[in-house]
Amino acid sequence: MSFIEFKNVSFNYDESEKIILNNISASFEKGDFVAVLGHNGSGKSTFAKLINGLLIAKSGCVTVDGIDASDENTRIDLLQRVGMVFQNPDNQIVASIVEEDVAFGPENLGVQPEEIRKRVDKALKTVGMYEYRKKSPHNLSGGQKQRVAIAGILAMNPQCIIMDEATAMLDPKGREEVMSSVKELNEQLGITIIYITHFMEEATLAKRVIVLDDGGIKLDGTPKSVFSHYDTIKEVGLDVPQPYELMRKLGVNECVLNADECASILEGLIENNVDSGN
Ligand SMILES: Nc1ncnc2c1ncn2[C@@H]1O[C@H](COP(=O)(O)OP(=O)(O)OP(=O)(O)O)[C@@H](O)[C@H]1O
Ligand SMILES: [Mg+2]
Repeated sequence: MSFIEFKNVSFNYDESEKIILNNISASFEKGDFVAVLGHNGSGKSTFAKLINGLLIAKSGCVTVDGIDASDENTRIDLLQRVGMVFQNPDNQIVASIVEEDVAFGPENLGVQPEEIRKRVDKALKTVGMYEYRKKSPHNLSGGQKQRVAIAGILAMNPQCIIMDEATAMLDPKGREEVMSSVKELNEQLGITIIYITHFMEEATLAKRVIVLDDGGIKLDGTPKSVFSHYDTIKEVGLDVPQPYELMRKLGVNECVLNADECASILEGLIENNVDSGN
């Protein structure tokens, strides 16, 4: 059994007849880093909330580590495994001191005080916010607030973290800080990451990308294989990463996802031009 499994999952909100997710089946392994893409309203947040039990599938079944996400009796077990970071850093602050904020989650899980102390320090160190532990979270930058939010989840010892556009309100520096923390959690601690984003360049850092459209998973694969479906990406209202767009304009059809690859292809093109005397 995979770590996260969607089996024939359908969902619609009570107030509307519209089916948001239609008979989705997918599985995600432990240690995966999955970027979830899709236009506004394609169902990304709905998908995420089905994983941590904030929403319950209307039909089909979602399981995490074998736990049925719809089962109220095992909700605590589920929340211990899956934490979620949301878009607005200010909405996630619950205490007036950083370390108290981070302690909030494990306190709610009934973790013993000495253990909480250890976890809070470790979590703050992991996201590089330990030196701010006695400060007020309200005075931090957006990126720092999001890292504190991540620490709050880390202190619950999760196996999976869902980021729902957690970088959307941040400046480039804040985005970089959060993204590199997340990559580290995945690579060094093996935490499974479900990463919802509208930034295509962030999606290129994931191991796997899924694209939601019209209630289903339209594309699923490595960043390269997904973005190389250029026409489909455009049809579903998304963009490809800038380096690839540039390459296409230069007549290079290879799916190039980052600036370094882009630069080395450009170098080749320029050398060829010089060699051929153009
Ligand atoms: N509480 C709700 N009640 C009714 N409809 C809702 C509710 N929440 C979301 N929807 C609708 O469900 C659809 C999917 O919403 P969802 O928030 O999952 O999309 P999303 O891909 O996360 O969008 P965005 O990129 O804007 O965050 C949208 O049409 C939205 O209007
Ligand atoms: Mg959303």
